[in-house]
Amino acid sequence: MPDTKKLFIKTYGCQMNVYDSERMAETLGAEGYVVTEVAEEADMVLLNTCHIREKASEKLYSDLGRLRPLKQAKPDLKIGVAGCVAQAEGEEILRRMPLVDLVVGPQSYHRLPGMMEDIAKGKKAVDTDFPAEDKFDHLPERKVLRGPSAFLTVQEGCDKFCAFCVVPYTRGAEVSRPVARLLGEARALVEKGVREITLLGQNVNAYHGAGEDGAWGLARLVRALAKIDGLERIRYTTSHPNDMEDDLIAAHGEEAKLMPYLHLPVQSGSDRILKAMNRKHTRDQYFRLVERIRAARPDILLSSDFIVGFPGESDADFADTMDLIRQVGFGAAFSFKYSARPGTPAAEKTPVEAEVADARLQELQALITSQQRAAQEAMVGREVAVLYEKAGRLPGQMVGKSDHLHAVHVTDPSARVGDLVRVRITSSAPNSLAGLRIAAETVS
Ligand code: 5AD
Ligand code: SF4
Repeated sequence: MPDTKKLFIKTYGCQMNVYDSERMAETLGAEGYVVTEVAEEADMVLLNTCHIREKASEKLYSDLGRLRPLKQAKPDLKIGVAGCVAQAEGEEILRRMPLVDLVVGPQSYHRLPGMMEDIAKGKKAVDTDFPAEDKFDHLPERKVLRGPSAFLTVQEGCDKFCAFCVVPYTRGAEVSRPVARLLGEARALVEKGVREITLLGQNVNAYHGAGEDGAWGLARLVRALAKIDGLERIRYTTSHPNDMEDDLIAAHGEEAKLMPYLHLPVQSGSDRILKAMNRKHTRDQYFRLVERIRAARPDILLSSDFIVGFPGESDADFADTMDLIRQVGFGAAFSFKYSARPGTPAAEKTPVEAEVADARLQELQALITSQQRAAQEAMVGREVAVLYEKAGRLPGQMVGKSDHLHAVHVTDPSARVGDLVRVRITSSAPNSLAGLRIAAETVS
């Protein structure tokens, strides 16, 4: 048995990074590392980075700067950088931050064991290849680190090339994992107590993994997963509007385990800006799509991503985005000020003035917040299913998610994490709901 050492991982950015962090923890687990939540007691600190917006990589460098005293106090401490900044900047990170020992990209982290051997000898290790082999075939078995709700990456990379986005460069071309592997990983998770799986991909609904009889789409994968006993809930994210095919929309009306929540980024409500963003759909097409999805599953809660201040965005373009939000009605949304990313086509264009973009972002966020509150208020008095994810702050309190992905607080002293229970919603707070468990009823 190797000596037990402690690993601290900090994850930035999207859920796919959360998934990768878990897999890296499992890989280093096989090398004798156990995860700690306390950076100060770690033998290895791994920062799993995000490159999507400017601030994220600045944040990496300032976090690395903050690790300097720790490294000075503990010269044996190893520091690694993983994820999309690692991919994009590679050796540059070592030049800028000599305290870093290891740089590993999102497609090569199955090679961590060999890299760890190198850094143990005092060498620096950098691997930002897109290797021919599939990293997932070279990772240890799944462990459950995060309770009853797990992520499962089914697809990586993106071929869409939105004009603002680095993902096609950092994560590479779209690749879908084979069906049999995914069903196997899902079964392994369920055997370890997982009851909800969120399927992940940069373009998850473009999934086209090899099945025993040719390529399967996401809908077919969802339907196969729904047959796994003990798996109660299925979600997926992030979807592109152009890949929302008929069978997937139909599955929302037919598969009880497929949850009524869909993250469907639109980015802008202006046709002119959508075109400049290379989104390849119009606002009208988005409206029609939303209609079809709501026809299949009337209570579905929609969320989205928005970018304000994309180069060339006029007041009228922004007004179109606000109008789209009013017409669709979202249960939640992420919104961002455009940030120019080197190497992307939009970075060549003149940006919108920062103050204008700031004001637009505030206005948009206020509208989204009011829609989010309204969606929550509409749940008060309703009966919902809640999967308990952790104990709450108050004694006897549990916190879980409803079908519609609302956080719900319930006082339920005899309950356990992983229970799926029926709850009547009694009140709505800014970012969560509260409810009462309906006596002794467990959903399963
Ligand atoms: N600037 C601002 N937001 C961006 N996003 C992606 N690239 C950029 C960028 N350059 C946002 C998009 C995407 C989400 C994950 O991040 O809204 O859907
Ligand atoms: Fe980026 Fe567009 Fe691909 Fe989404 S669809 S990952 S925004 S390029």
